[in-house]
Amino acid sequence: MDYRINFDEPIPEMIERLKLEHVDFRASLDKIEQYIRENETKRATETTRNMSECIIKHAVEEEARIIRVIMQNAKEESADSIKIMREHNWVVDFLKHKLQNMENDGHQQDRHDEQHQQKVQNDINEFVANLRIHFLEEEQIVFPLALKAEKGQTK
Ligand SMILES: [Fe+2]
Repeated sequence: MDYRINFDEPIPEMIERLKLEHVDFRASLDKIEQYIRENETKRATETTRNMSECIIKHAVEEEARIIRVIMQNAKEESADSIKIMREHNWVVDFLKHKLQNMENDGHQQDRHDEQHQQKVQNDINEFVANLRIHFLEEEQIVFPLALKAEKGQTK
């Protein structure tokens, strides 16, 4: 995964792209929830792991460019957006550490250990639900403020 940030991409275009990425992410989240309903826990964790690099890159871009333009031109209105960006901490922590631990535990124990399966399913469901809220908050609060801040800059 290439984590370099393209600073030449205009902010409005970048936001359109980030929104489209949210659409793709939501499709994957739908799939993950579907697997959990079908009790396909392993497929649910694999699908989550497969999307994790893209989500982390997406989060890094938001912090590097979206928050930067907000801090430069709309600092006095930035509190909610900063709070939403801080949610990346639990997103990244889940994808980098918790998911890995869950998969390792799954290998050590009997995979059909019901209690373990249930816990993994609950944790993933919770993560998916929180991530959906996070995307919505970005679309409703962070992205509009960044667009407003960007316009202020070009005046
Ligand atoms: Fe985000």
